Amino acid sequence: GGAAGLGLGAALGLGGALLGGRALQSGGGSETDGGEAGFGGEELGCHGAHQAGIVTAPGAHIRFLAYRLLEDTDADALARMFNILTGDIEALTAGEGPLADPEPELAARPARLSITVGVGAGLVERVSSARRPEWLGPLPAFTRDRLGNGYDDGDLLLMVQADDLLPVAHAARMLERDLVSFAEPLWSQQGFRQARGAEASGTTMRNLMGQVDGTENPSPEDDDLASLIWLDGSAAGEGWLAGGSALVLRRIRMELDTWDQVDRPGREQTIGRRLSDGSPLSAPAASADERTPSDFEATNEYGLPLIPSASHIRRAHSEDPGERIFRRAVNYEQDGESGLLFACYQRDPLSQFVPIQGRLDELDLLNEWITHTGSAVFAILPGFREGETLGASLFA
Ligand code: HEM
Repeated sequence: GGAAGLGLGAALGLGGALLGGRALQSGGGSETDGGEAGFGGEELGCHGAHQAGIVTAPGAHIRFLAYRLLEDTDADALARMFNILTGDIEALTAGEGPLADPEPELAARPARLSITVGVGAGLVERVSSARRPEWLGPLPAFTRDRLGNGYDDGDLLLMVQADDLLPVAHAARMLERDLVSFAEPLWSQQGFRQARGAEASGTTMRNLMGQVDGTENPSPEDDDLASLIWLDGSAAGEGWLAGGSALVLRRIRMELDTWDQVDRPGREQTIGRRLSDGSPLSAPAASADERTPSDFEATNEYGLPLIPSASHIRRAHSEDPGERIFRRAVNYEQDGESGLLFACYQRDPLSQFVPIQGRLDELDLLNEWITHTGSAVFAILPGFREGETLGASLFA
């Protein structure tokens, strides 16, 4: 349709400035395949008030790479490191090999590659403890947490995202090469959602339990998204983070074998929404769809709530509009284990993620089939403009 001529941003109904998308050699094909040359040539652009990769349309593949700083990486070394990272990100996201890339051909088709950088408490402490926000560090422990499997914390996070795994793998390798004298790999997690073109752009993801996942989520088009996720630098010690965000990343294992034994009504009651289309159980199937607002007060003829009081959406739902998060979960599958890499953005995990997870930890029908096995919090650095250096405000 008209989407081909208008580009991906328009197809998603998001402003071009927000998506920063730029189609190269995409020809005149359909919305899904990008034409004869495919969507591989598309660039997302890395400059702006915020880093790319958070509210920009999600890529089909995402790799989270956490690093631990080497002992002698001091503030001066860190400033050098961010200089190098800036050059690498500018080159790779523009489809060019970074300095001394032996295989620049692998960078040539970025498929909307974005590289988003976050820092952990350990990195901020090397520069100035006064600049460490209160929320930057391990979250308070939840009763059901089973952490300690090598997917917790970290000093530095790189989030490498694209619609094709090839540029992700290449970028990750180049970045790792350039970080070698500053930091060592701590953990990496690979996530995915439906491949680009498998669904119309903008379709809500399905997770590996089969549910439509991501419906009730603040949208990049909402006026209050900024006040929910982008730091404004007003909190003590956070001036350097204005334009950044707080990321909570939880690795959550799913018990798919026992989940498969639950009948369909049972699986729908667990969430409070239908499997077929993600519509809320509070509205009749025939007249409801994914966008129908859920009504937690609606009851059946016996006076029982149509959305069970222990269902996932009932327990996760916040009446307080400030207690919301921007969810960007992706699926993972590794060595026979499946689950969700639950990433979410906010201004303050302690007043946004923590109370929500506190409720879920206490009671959520879903808990029988899920376990949180990894947890990390990072400060996502503010965006940078051409000529600027990513992370410069930390040293200013
Ligand atoms: C809603 C799945 C973990 C917070 C939902 C929905 C599904 C879902 C299917 C309904 C559709 C939607 O609105 O997106 C899952 C699965 C999880 C998981 C499978 C773990 C494997 C979490 C965690 C949190 C969370 C850890 C936060 C601490 C929410 C919120 C909503 C939601 C806030 C919207 C509630 C509302 O309707 O207001 N989730 N979720 N979820 N989930 Fe989760």
